Amino acid sequence: MRKLEMTNKRGASAASPPDRTHRDLIRNELDRNVLVEAAAGTGKTTGMVERMLALLGSGKCPRARSMAAVTFTRKAAAELRARFQVELEKALREATGERRQNLERALSEEEQCLIGTIHSFCARLLRERPVEAGVGLDFEEIDEEADRRLRDEAWELFSAGLILDDAHELLSELHRLGLRLPDLKSAFMRFADFPDVQEWPLPPTELQPEQVEKAAVELEGYIAHMAELAHDLPEDPGNDTLIPQYKRLPRVASHYDDLRRPEQLMEMLELLDSNVHIVQKEWKKGHHLGAENARSEKARWERFREEVAKPNLRLWRELRYRMVMRLLFRARKVYDELRRERGALNFQDLLIKAAALLRENPSVRRYFQSRFSHLLVDEFQDTDPIQAEVILLLASSDPREKEWRNCVPRPGSLFVVGDPKQSIYRFRRADIVTYNEVKEIILHGDSAGKEGLLIKLTANFRATQPVIEWVNRVFRPADSESEDSQASMLRFPARACQESPSYVPLLKGREEGCPGELCGLYPLLVPEEYQSKESAVEYEAELIARTIRRALDLGVTVPRTRRQVEEGRGPEADPSDFMIITRNTTNLSVYARKLREHDIPH
Ligand SMILES: Nc1ncnc2c1ncn2[C@@H]1O[C@H](COP(=O)(O)OP(=O)(O)OP(=O)(O)O)[C@@H](O)[C@H]1O
Ligand SMILES: [Mg+2]
Repeated sequence: MRKLEMTNKRGASAASPPDRTHRDLIRNELDRNVLVEAAAGTGKTTGMVERMLALLGSGKCPRARSMAAVTFTRKAAAELRARFQVELEKALREATGERRQNLERALSEEEQCLIGTIHSFCARLLRERPVEAGVGLDFEEIDEEADRRLRDEAWELFSAGLILDDAHELLSELHRLGLRLPDLKSAFMRFADFPDVQEWPLPPTELQPEQVEKAAVELEGYIAHMAELAHDLPEDPGNDTLIPQYKRLPRVASHYDDLRRPEQLMEMLELLDSNVHIVQKEWKKGHHLGAENARSEKARWERFREEVAKPNLRLWRELRYRMVMRLLFRARKVYDELRRERGALNFQDLLIKAAALLRENPSVRRYFQSRFSHLLVDEFQDTDPIQAEVILLLASSDPREKEWRNCVPRPGSLFVVGDPKQSIYRFRRADIVTYNEVKEIILHGDSAGKEGLLIKLTANFRATQPVIEWVNRVFRPADSESEDSQASMLRFPARACQESPSYVPLLKGREEGCPGELCGLYPLLVPEEYQSKESAVEYEAELIARTIRRALDLGVTVPRTRRQVEEGRGPEADPSDFMIITRNTTNLSVYARKLREHDIPH
């Protein structure tokens, strides 16, 4: 076994990561609004907790109840609260004089400090002012699971209502458009996520019988032409994609009994609305066919697509869209009514109602602004426009300003932390555009005319040097170097743009307590003969489990941080040192089984 070597030669290096001066600003610049922008594991949440303690300790934020620290998931909120408690107690032990008094008071009022998710924060605002917010006094906050069940119930009620009531006409119209009610359920479940989507006026569209007739005649003519040519086309089309279409489409068309029925016609047209690629040499292999045929047939395909398929499909999609939206809006009414009846507010309700409460009631906003003098937000990359609105309305110097994008924050009221590269809720409209808008507002300046501070942290405390080098190499933008443009598109650009944050290389911040043998990247290769996905996964899982088992049995050492060493953790690897990351959860059970087989707790 390797001897435990302490590498604390640099003395105070625990407090001296390479970007230390930037980190100090978090604790010292308390009168300025701050945006901390940094990658994973660089100490953003740690910085936020330090800021909270600095605000309380210095007396800039005299009462714990005046501070709101929010984040986006319950797990993150629980972790933030736990870290704050531990650090507050620790800071108090080391404090003297006025700082000590301030921190003692903070500790005695600690439970009044609002640390939670943005949703629980909004719920708090609504509970304090239910009358102005227009919510019931005893409303229930429902989580995503309860909300999903409510949507299920609303959809059932809505469908049953349609079938029982007046809606025969609506249902037969739906049928005529080739749609079935149950097919729309998943659209409804998704649609319900966007309560602020309004009906979009569309010009009235009708599908005229003559138009259907005309398109059907054109289609039948073209299909007949394909069928005729199909005999002469070569067996093997190589990379040509038009030949297979010519062979397949006449067969497909023969299964439709009436191409004059719009839904049948449109299904066929869908098949012709695609790009094709011709390979002239393949056509030359056919009977009496040459390059000329290849070109003219491609032109015919494209003409048909542009002149017949696309315009008809467009009209058809508009008709379907109109119908689908009509139904979704009706279903949403049922869902809204159900929530109202039960006094249930989902996550979106909480945000929307809190934003409206602040936007529309200057006196309420003034009250909350004096109540919450300091707002700190973690994981801000996951914000969406309504969340951003709540935060900025609260921080605004002018309680009458209704447009959050025009709000000018009060000095020192905002501390926002985010990593735009970790934005994971894009599907919920949280995107880097909102993040950048807020960033601009903060940096532009506060109501005292002072610009906001952008603090970038680059030292990473989680990863060891070889991992950092690998990450930097893999994500480095492919600029002047001769790397293919495909790869560079998947990377972060050298300069930030609207859609993407820029590449920032990581530096090592982790302070090693003792070195270890197992450190770096070791590719485990799956031999080519494991062609099927199942066999490859099985092999890979076995290899991983066996590698871990061997490392444990041999007492292989891993590098430990100084703190780990101080906490008495030895250098030998234990099962918690290993992490298995997979692309998705599909095969997790295989990895778990292999770990069990090798007696590795997980
Ligand atoms: N100044 C520091 N010196 C030493 N270790 C630190 C420092 N700041 C943070 N750490 C350690 O680095 C690790 C990551 O910190 P933290 O969770 O604050 O990072 P983060 O940027 O918020 O990460 P994420 O992006 O995952 O939210 C923690 O174990 C923390 O204790
Ligand atoms: Mg964090």
